[in-house]
Amino acid sequence: MAKGQTKFDGGADPRLVAAGYHQRTKHHYDRYANSPGHMDWGTQPEPFRRFIGAEMIQLRFPESDQTPSYDLLYEPSAIEPQPVNIDSLSAFYFYSMALSAWKQYGASSWALRVNPSSGNLHPTEGYLLLGALEGIAAAPGLYHYAPKEHGLEHRARFTDRSWSQLMSGWPANVFFVALSTIFWRESWKYGERAYRYCQHDTGHALAALRLAAALLGWRLVVINDLPDTQLEKLLGLDRDDAQREHEQESPQLLAAVVPYHDLVKHGAIDILDAADDGQWFGAANQLSPDHRAWQAIDVVQQACRRQSNWQLTTDFTAGIGQAISYEPCPYSAGSIIRQRRSALDMDGQTPVTQHRFYAMLSRVVPGLCPVPWDAVAWPICTHLGLFVHRVTDLTAGLYVLVRDPSQLDALRGALRSEFVWQKPPGCPEALPFYLLAAGDCQGLAARISCHQHLAGAGAFSLGMLANFDDALSRYGAPMYRYLFWETGVIGQVLYLEAEAAGLRSTGIGCFFDDAVHEILGITDTSFQSLYHFSVGGPVEDRRLTNLPAYRNSVNVTPAS
Ligand SMILES: Cc1cc2nc3c(=O)[nH]c(=O)nc-3n(C[C@H](O)[C@H](O)[C@H](O)COP(=O)(O)O)c2cc1C
Repeated sequence: MAKGQTKFDGGADPRLVAAGYHQRTKHHYDRYANSPGHMDWGTQPEPFRRFIGAEMIQLRFPESDQTPSYDLLYEPSAIEPQPVNIDSLSAFYFYSMALSAWKQYGASSWALRVNPSSGNLHPTEGYLLLGALEGIAAAPGLYHYAPKEHGLEHRARFTDRSWSQLMSGWPANVFFVALSTIFWRESWKYGERAYRYCQHDTGHALAALRLAAALLGWRLVVINDLPDTQLEKLLGLDRDDAQREHEQESPQLLAAVVPYHDLVKHGAIDILDAADDGQWFGAANQLSPDHRAWQAIDVVQQACRRQSNWQLTTDFTAGIGQAISYEPCPYSAGSIIRQRRSALDMDGQTPVTQHRFYAMLSRVVPGLCPVPWDAVAWPICTHLGLFVHRVTDLTAGLYVLVRDPSQLDALRGALRSEFVWQKPPGCPEALPFYLLAAGDCQGLAARISCHQHLAGAGAFSLGMLANFDDALSRYGAPMYRYLFWETGVIGQVLYLEAEAAGLRSTGIGCFFDDAVHEILGITDTSFQSLYHFSVGGPVEDRRLTNLPAYRNSVNVTPAS
């Protein structure tokens, strides 16, 4: 694909459509991507999908926090696998996609969730495909996860024959989880750029599911070789009772969850009969009374669908090297996961120690950390450009973390030639982390992040740099989605790592794309910054009241 392509044409090569959408939805200092420019409160989408008429199976709330220590999440063989039953499935969702709190300000209240979402708009929906299981159903079926109730809506019953076909080649006790996205939830506020945010949110939710699986001693792996039409069919999203006009719910990913430590090989998935033989229940609720169409999203989502001939394989194995250890985290995995929040601002003071900083970074290097990277069944393409503001004994400045060292030369070739590429003294050998240029970047980091103070006032902030042209030209237009998913997975790990370090973080979707590239000396689209992030000491908004997520749930003790 030609560098710097800006063509935006629904009839073109899908890779050009994706690249064109990307160009078109960049924010610039003097011009933001097309959006409504104001909040139309009359059409604000309902945050909770429900299938009216479908039976709701109430999941359970843990009676106490029985989850293992936070650090064990990253050691796949350290946690005894739990049997798959209603208690473990309840925990799986409680620690991945459930509500985490209600917030109240004056007469308004809104729910927060375990998985974060751009603007708290939550476009991501979760599904479960499960065999017959006591306490849930006597027959295999498809369920939609309802976070407000912490329940499973029974969306379809499948025949035993269909289920055997679905799970053939997989270990007994396998179940499947799926994610979909509703673009309208995000485009209502963010307009054309919303497609990107929906993809980030999918990545966050995927990581949340992988980490909740780890907490139960389970493995989770994404199944890539499933065309979107088939996943759509399996989830019933092509049915009239699932789709509301202008509120398209699009399939994102399917993953197998296996309650064993053993490495799972991908089995083929043959789904055609399952949906046709299924008995379906319920109809999707309407989210808004009226809508504004965003044609750019319709076009890019069409271009980036996985077609039947799309293949993506990776021979990458996560966690071969040694993660950098830090003093053990004294908190449970469950408390860290459920206390995760976005900082509304950073205090401009709190530092992080150098050693802790390196340990945090090592958890986003797939070669050093098995979880959640063993779920990511696609090639690693993203690196971090870091603005170090307050890391003890580390010179402030611009740094880079090369998450896949085999791409070091490509990245180096794309960045400013005058960068020094020095390994800081004290940086562990295993960590591919380099100083590019020393200096105070606080003002710069805030400026390029749409003037958001929190990007300059944390201990560090960063931009996630995708090997963009190469990924699209090698793996095709669907890879555009996977690049954003990868950044969401990185974000989710950093969110948790910040909590474990007594800090807080915030995902930053609003940044001036090419201003970031200019700092780094990127003059083409070889590498593109897709997502920003800030980690530091938070400033609380004391006007907000915290309320429990569920009236009947145990109050999981926060770590700080
Ligand atoms: C993809 C993404 C982009 C985000 N962008 C911003 C941003 O630019 N500025 C900001 O202050 N918060 C941003 N956030 C934080 C969200 O507003 C926050 O996740 C949401 O309000 C839910 O709150 P919680 O994270 O505390 O659950 C972003 C979050 C995500 C996942």
